[in-house]
Amino acid sequence: MKNEKNRQRYVIANWKMKLGLAESLKLADDFKGKFKGFCKNKVVVCPDFISFSDISKKLKKTNINTGTQDVFWHSKGSYTGEVSPKVIEEAGGNYVIIGHSERKEYLQETYDVINSKVKEVIKNSKLTPVVCIGEKMETRKKGKVKSELSKQLKKTFENVKITGNRQVFIAYEPIWAIGSGKSIKTKDLEEVNKIIEQNLLNIFGTKKEANNFIKLYGGSVDSKNVKELSGVNGLDGLLVGGASLKVAEFYKVVNLF
Ligand code: PGA
Repeated sequence: MKNEKNRQRYVIANWKMKLGLAESLKLADDFKGKFKGFCKNKVVVCPDFISFSDISKKLKKTNINTGTQDVFWHSKGSYTGEVSPKVIEEAGGNYVIIGHSERKEYLQETYDVINSKVKEVIKNSKLTPVVCIGEKMETRKKGKVKSELSKQLKKTFENVKITGNRQVFIAYEPIWAIGSGKSIKTKDLEEVNKIIEQNLLNIFGTKKEANNFIKLYGGSVDSKNVKELSGVNGLDGLLVGGASLKVAEFYKVVNLF
């Protein structure tokens, strides 16, 4: 692993369901133009499923990677409406977001489902999973962040085997910070990073496997708070929603991190 100063960092754009098809394609063109040449950190764009394939083609020979916002836990079969890891790979994707809190809230996605998705992606594809965790404000107020995140990580990675250099991204996104304009305090984020590291050691046992994990933060990241976040110990990247929808703003976020 590279040392703290030189290590690779990532900024992932989560466009959610915020754009129309033409708007997504246009924004991908804007990204392509703006990020041509030098880019300080690795950029990943996660559009909706319909625009994903065209956007992956557009960005194929650029320094921008693509991913999806969800995935199914089998590679083929009678699963109406679902999209497999294989198809995402075929369409040019490298990453997949799993278990975003909006899916837990609006689609009742459970930890059994999240665990199945993580297992399938790691076992049968080359996609890098970007697994989301995070607490509600009431949990934070009750001082129960540690036990809540430990529970989420345990369920997410139950019986998951990680070998070799396989990377797994963990995006800590406190639910109260998503889309609220209220980002986390850096000291609280450092504490969460330690909680995550400790839990990964408890779950996977060896230091080596814990080193396969990349830690991201998401929740109201923008060009004003990114500089502060960039100094947080143990943080390898960001998952950005609202601020990834305007190319100039996102460019600042990526290069200030
Ligand atoms: P936000 O969203 O940056 O708009 O808060 C982040 C996310 O939900 O991934």
